[in-house]
Amino acid sequence: MTKTLILPADDTGLAQAAAILRAGELVAMPTETVYGLAGDACNDRAVARIFDAKNRPHFNPLIVHLSQLDQVAQIARLTQLAGRLAHAFWPGPLTLVLPLAPGHGLSPLVTAGLETVALRMPAHPIARALLERFNGPLAAPSANPSGRISPVSTAHVLAGLDGRIAAVIDGGDCAVGLESTILDATGPAPRLLREGGLARETIEDVLGLEIATPSPSDTISAPGQLRSHYAPRGSLRLNAHTPEKGEIWIGFGPDTPGTEGLTLSAKADLTEAAASLFHMLHKADALAGPTGRIAVAPVPETGLGRAINDRLRRAAAPR
Ligand code: TXA
Ligand code: MG
Repeated sequence: MTKTLILPADDTGLAQAAAILRAGELVAMPTETVYGLAGDACNDRAVARIFDAKNRPHFNPLIVHLSQLDQVAQIARLTQLAGRLAHAFWPGPLTLVLPLAPGHGLSPLVTAGLETVALRMPAHPIARALLERFNGPLAAPSANPSGRISPVSTAHVLAGLDGRIAAVIDGGDCAVGLESTILDATGPAPRLLREGGLARETIEDVLGLEIATPSPSDTISAPGQLRSHYAPRGSLRLNAHTPEKGEIWIGFGPDTPGTEGLTLSAKADLTEAAASLFHMLHKADALAGPTGRIAVAPVPETGLGRAINDRLRRAAAPR
């Protein structure tokens, strides 16, 4: 493949991106969570290209992105629970797993042959504008090589996928900085499949109930998914109050300044930490090099801290 085009986030760029998608090629697009690698969800070849570009194991199904609630019915059955959640949190960083509708038209590769589909309506204006122009569902996993740190800027996308995808729309940094929260809403009781950019407590407040976390055996072939994920090239040590000799240290809070000022949030703010997490991992990865060592200060296990720690544990997992 030739060089990846960098498209401006304006009418011309969006028109070009939509044409590329219609031709079955791939475009990385900014969303409020992370950059997504978008392809036509109804086109087998486009979806296969997503797996190929990411080098992604085939058993991992993809999230399908929509811009309007009335597009859901064509693809999935909006359960009563899902309807409530969609009204409360869409557009936004929430993905709902729903039963597939007959005649959905999606490539079976998108769902990895499951009878369910993961749907999300992103809030980012560029993602929404692209979905409107394309006028159909877009499959979009995070726009990074499988297993690596998720991209939250155009530079991150290019660092991982330059030359492997047709284009990226340059939409600046992602505001949330963590992937969407994934809920199984196929039945009457929601099940949390992946912690993410929408805190579990926020969802529980709206529903007025506690959300079950499935046992690890339930989730092994589904979300979040592989134990080692989001990984820098070198090693990562968690809950580090001080760095060891030679380590690149990422701080959190005023008492842990980090190497060269690398910090998730000097104010110990979890929203800021979520937004900076992948930036800091990319920076530390660059400083540490392919075999270097990275350490991260402790992050509290509440609210978005749970999703942050989940990502950090996967990034640190033995490979
Ligand atoms: O924030 C996000 O969700 C980003 C942006 C681009 O929207 N997308 C993203 O997609 O993180 P991806 O493909 O990296 O993550 C998809 C996750 C996988 O862990 C997959 O296992 C799970 O969604 N998933 C997809 N379909 C599923 C289904 N039918 N049942 C259970 N889990 C599913
Ligand atoms: Mg991903």
